[in-house]
Amino acid sequence: MTQKILILPGDGIGPEIIAEAAKALECLRQEFGLDIGLEYGLLGGGAVDTLGSPYPMATDRQARAADAILLGAVGGPKWDGYDRPLRPEQGLAAIRRQLGLFANLRPTLHYPQLASLSPLKPELVAGLDLLVVRESTGDVYFGQPRGIRSLENGEREGFNTMVYRTSEIERIARVAFEAARRRHRKLCSVDKANTLETSQLWREVVEQVALDYPDVALSHLYVDNAVIQLVRAPRQFDVIVTGNLFGDILSNGAAMLSGSLGILPSASLDASGKGLFEPMHGSAPDIAGKGMANPLAAILSAAMLLRYGLQQPELAGRIERAVAQVLDQGLRTVDIMAEGMTPVGTQEMGDAVVAALAA
Ligand code: IPM
Ligand code: MG
Repeated sequence: MTQKILILPGDGIGPEIIAEAAKALECLRQEFGLDIGLEYGLLGGGAVDTLGSPYPMATDRQARAADAILLGAVGGPKWDGYDRPLRPEQGLAAIRRQLGLFANLRPTLHYPQLASLSPLKPELVAGLDLLVVRESTGDVYFGQPRGIRSLENGEREGFNTMVYRTSEIERIARVAFEAARRRHRKLCSVDKANTLETSQLWREVVEQVALDYPDVALSHLYVDNAVIQLVRAPRQFDVIVTGNLFGDILSNGAAMLSGSLGILPSASLDASGKGLFEPMHGSAPDIAGKGMANPLAAILSAAMLLRYGLQQPELAGRIERAVAQVLDQGLRTVDIMAEGMTPVGTQEMGDAVVAALAA
């Protein structure tokens, strides 16, 4: 049966990079019998401009009907002054929340071809293969009450609520343990249990879930120490599981160890494994429309979509190998360029991946 893929190009460089990912999927459809139909929708700033909401009802309907969703990126200076409900980022938060996409998987892989780009010494990152499992529909990003209020003395006060229920912690812990089981059977849970009750409960529940996974070695780190360890000796990690706030920050820090956000994909999955797949980078408005953005994170997001969303690991592997091949050939967009190399543009990079795929 034909599987429906909803494509949400979004804002900034989103449309440019997504076009290249769509080309790769189209190539698999034509050459390798992948039975998919692509449909397009609006999310983020563009959706605010045309439909008055960063996550319009029409997009919600399309998303629910789709088998998997591929997203570019959202946001840009144009919408920075808008009220919070109309900001593009709210569209992303809303689609994750409303579709129950609570498990955000953010892999950081070290590419030997890009070794010189890592801010860490080569010997610290060689062979790095780390997965951050970030809870993404709870925590202080969604907790109530929240707001900005005026105090009697005339000051204003901003407030948010950090909150996690046992069921939320349990389900993300299970995703992380399962992932660890398919990898190197090591899981590190990151929290701030020395200061926050939310984290204290988090730790208790994770330990409870661990009883079902005796084959996975569980450890705990406070988030401040986790940052130190990530920079000091990142290869000690296999899978990290953490809440929304810590995961937002830690996953981006971890991602930079590979040298560039421009090549890293991510997945947000619901309880049944249905998901939204998107690059880890943002909409890069400063280079939007110039044809210089790196499409590899978007293309590798399409690979993650095939692997996790459509259960097509073989085709996912084809995309991943094609990307490795173009890197081996020395093709680089500006963000991943090393000295003495000539950069290629977004389309050239996409075309090279498609050529490698079809070969
Ligand atoms: C991310 C993004 C989002 C988040 C923003 C845009 C709401 O930064 O995917 O990390 O922090 O959840
Ligand atoms: Mg973020």
